[in-house]
Amino acid sequence: MMLWILGAEGLLGKALQKACSGLGMAHVATGREVDITRKEQLLSVIDQNGPTHLINCAAYTDVDGAEKEKERAFAVNAEGPAHLGRLCFQRGMRLIHLSTDYVFDGKKGSPYTEEDLCAPVNVYGQSKHEGEKALLQELPTGCIVRTSWLFGEGGKNFLSKLQELLQNRERLEIDALQMNRPTEVSELVRVLWFLLNREGIWHVASRGVTTRFEVASYLLEELRKRGTGVKCAISPVTSVEAKGAPRPFYSALSTEKIEALTPLAHWKEVVCE
Ligand SMILES: NC(=O)c1ccc[n+]([C@@H]2O[C@H](COP(=O)([O-])OP(=O)(O)OC[C@H]3O[C@@H](n4cnc5c(N)ncnc54)[C@H](OP(=O)(O)O)[C@@H]3O)[C@@H](O)[C@H]2O)c1
Repeated sequence: MMLWILGAEGLLGKALQKACSGLGMAHVATGREVDITRKEQLLSVIDQNGPTHLINCAAYTDVDGAEKEKERAFAVNAEGPAHLGRLCFQRGMRLIHLSTDYVFDGKKGSPYTEEDLCAPVNVYGQSKHEGEKALLQELPTGCIVRTSWLFGEGGKNFLSKLQELLQNRERLEIDALQMNRPTEVSELVRVLWFLLNREGIWHVASRGVTTRFEVASYLLEELRKRGTGVKCAISPVTSVEAKGAPRPFYSALSTEKIEALTPLAHWKEVVCE
């Protein structure tokens, strides 16, 4: 097996590279020098390295930015996966593509299963949904992994930003409305190994539905218990402000399907590691 990690300089890509090195797994990792929108660049990686499996972590992930850069978001998140699907079909490669809970509108009120109807409320979600459909059209045996609120070492994410703010601010107002399942990135990587030779759509998220405010309260308490001297006071924001792209209010993913293969950790078990 030879794994290609595309988009290897992002949060998930870096965690995958680290895991591959730790496991001694043969892999090739490409960052921005290999553009998912450029078919000839994708083809050249395949010709030079002969990967048997591909995990696509490359994506346009700026949810607010996508509202203004719709064309770019669709080129990367929708057309890109279509190119990958076609190439993997032609070359007999296995493909795992990452997608998001933002393909849902958040109105269901209970965790979304893999079969639930997609109805994204913002451009990022629309572009990711188009990417899912285009990929499966080109490669019906493709594997799509939807995840949510990724956090962990090695990249920009809400938890690293929160930790920095808690250390440096005296007061913070934090959203207490949007409900979701945070997902620790090395936990996601561990689960991806189970999916390397599978197909279809899978939901992967750490256990526990929560809000950013609850995560911040928990983190603050843990930091204080560890005597870190954090003095920040936090308060919940419960009003809906029209800032940036609209987001689904409740987009927790149901993970029953993947939990039949492997158990998942609760976010509280991994948030302070
Ligand atoms: N982070 C989350 O909370 C979250 C939640 C749900 C789903 N996901 C999905 O999980 C996957 C991985 O997310 P992540 O957090 O690791 O994202 P990330 O840190 O933003 O990484 C994405 C990587 O893709 C690169 N990229 C952007 N445009 C590209 C292009 N045209 N060609 C090649 N690479 C390109 C980015 O480079 P630049 O940084 O230079 O642009 C970045 O290195 C994505 O599919 C995302 O949609 C993430």
